Amino acid sequence: MDQASRLRMIMGDQKRDFLSGGALPRDVMDSAAPQGPVRVISVTSGKGGVGKTNVVGNLAYAMSRMGRRVLILDADLGLANMDVLLGVNPRYTIQHVLSGEKNLEEVILRTPSGFSLLPAASGIQELTELDHSQRLLLLNEFEDFEDSFDVFLIDTGAGISSNVMYFNFAAMEKIVVVTNEPASLTDAYALIKILTKKYRQKRYRILVNAARSAGEAERIYRHLSRVVDRYLSSPSLDYLGWVPYDEHVPKAVRRQQTVSELYPDSRVSRSFAEIAERMLESEDAFDFEGDIKFFWRRLLRF
Ligand SMILES: Nc1ncnc2c1ncn2[C@@H]1O[C@H](COP(=O)(O)OP(=O)(O)O)[C@@H](O)[C@H]1O
Ligand SMILES: [Mg+2]
Repeated sequence: MDQASRLRMIMGDQKRDFLSGGALPRDVMDSAAPQGPVRVISVTSGKGGVGKTNVVGNLAYAMSRMGRRVLILDADLGLANMDVLLGVNPRYTIQHVLSGEKNLEEVILRTPSGFSLLPAASGIQELTELDHSQRLLLLNEFEDFEDSFDVFLIDTGAGISSNVMYFNFAAMEKIVVVTNEPASLTDAYALIKILTKKYRQKRYRILVNAARSAGEAERIYRHLSRVVDRYLSSPSLDYLGWVPYDEHVPKAVRRQQTVSELYPDSRVSRSFAEIAERMLESEDAFDFEGDIKFFWRRLLRF
């Protein structure tokens, strides 16, 4: 059996687990059945600590409850902690693929929450500095995974380093997480400015995290949007929504589970579910620039 079919088998099991969990009746699941290309979505921010890792983990959870096969790429070079948030212990990272010790399938981890994780942090620097034959090898491996996932969520880490930029440049959709802190907004602006001017990226979705009310979140979004409109001519910012400040989040973090799984009825979990749904509904509305192949080609600079 080739790598892709083995993975499809594993993912098939995931779907069965999901169904036997009784989360949604089969017809709902079937109607939610994905079509079309893999969504490649980066979750990024100018400033650290604004909630990216939580956003990625919770959207992954919510989307997999909605019948999508989700893979998270933990690409935060400085503070990779998706594994800690999810309470899993990866033995290998993408670095083992680059060194030839493991293949991708052996590195991708099925989390108990129903989605998969590709731990990458320790190999990120290398990922952007490969020679031609290494890149070709990796690209071949990744292309085998084309049919195994519906959504590919990337935790890029914060800031304006070239690693963060590469992932945002390669991803077709970008979610920029901001909070009410002034530094989060100025740093988000700096990030959008570089992505727009240097990498010619035009569309961004803004998610306001840890807000106290819908009004506060909308004010934050409008403020950023005004500044971007005034000083940068081309980009368009879409308001993706907001997630409330909620003490359930740090509680869940301490228990090493996503808040959506641990406290599904909390306000914060309902917000994540709504945002996930909005993302999935916009499947047709958003004009994709490519698929997962396109992502890896861009990332690996072919
Ligand atoms: N909506 C929220 N409400 C309350 N606390 C939050 C919320 N989102 C994130 N946090 C807290 O903020 C901290 C940083 O979140 P994290 O997702 O690790 O940020 P980042 O990945 O951007 O560095 C976490 O310890 C988490 O408990
Ligand atoms: Mg993080």
